[in-house]
Amino acid sequence: MSTTFTLDTSASRAHPVPEPVRRLTVPAIAKRKGGEPIVMLTAYTARMAQLLDPHCDLLLVGDSLGQVIYGLDTTVKVSIDMMIAHGAAVVRGSCRSVVVIDLPFGSYEESPQAAFRTAARVMQETGAAAVKLEGGAVMAPTVKFLSERGIPVMAHVGLTPQAVNALGGYGARGRSEAEAAKILDDARAVAEAGCFALVVEGVVETLGRDITAAVTCPTIGIGASPACDGQVLVVDDMLGMFERAPRFVERFDNLAARISDAAARYAGAVRERRFPTDAQLYR
Ligand code: KIV
Repeated sequence: MSTTFTLDTSASRAHPVPEPVRRLTVPAIAKRKGGEPIVMLTAYTARMAQLLDPHCDLLLVGDSLGQVIYGLDTTVKVSIDMMIAHGAAVVRGSCRSVVVIDLPFGSYEESPQAAFRTAARVMQETGAAAVKLEGGAVMAPTVKFLSERGIPVMAHVGLTPQAVNALGGYGARGRSEAEAAKILDDARAVAEAGCFALVVEGVVETLGRDITAAVTCPTIGIGASPACDGQVLVVDDMLGMFERAPRFVERFDNLAARISDAAARYAGAVRERRFPTDAQLYR
């Protein structure tokens, strides 16, 4: 499938790719088990998608946008409409990566049929190629139902943030033998049900490794193991936009400090009447 941008950008900030580019596909990602590591980042806006797209295989419109973009305390309050608005923007801003959209809390757990209706709407209204849902064995029938009906599903086990109220926090999972065995069973169940990839979040390293060895689909780790078939981070964490980040985050920049510095310099220039200068004026 190829994607072209139809925007007339002569007066816009958007930067469409001039040539049609072939977008990666879900089956191509599924084949990457044990191969070249899969690169995934979250993205929530068109412009960020444009910047990340050339470097990524997958862009995840994560429900982490509730915290990152909307300042919510958990992802539990994220709505389908939020996911669709940001999902459509990320699809518009990308042309190479597979775009995956999180199904938000409350929109899919009730039954496979409910999940199908939400996922179909999300895909129709955004143009994304796949959805992600959280949960293990209990969600396996839903993963199977959707996968068999043309909806590629990325599953998510281990630390599942939508279940924060049940889990009691965001601590690493799989520290006891019983919990590790349960998460391994969860991973096997969703993989056997047909998910094309599996996010493994916040688990002890050996469990991340064991899950990767146990399932036939690629695993994408976040606070899991370097042995996973790929890695994902929340882009704002990776860019250093927040003072606090989980242990598993590496900050590849310190954008918070750089933005704050730019804002301070702008404010100084306005207050001292050094901005605007002649260069910014219409003569
Ligand atoms: O919502 C999200 O961003 C996620 C990733 C952290 C995997 O689920």
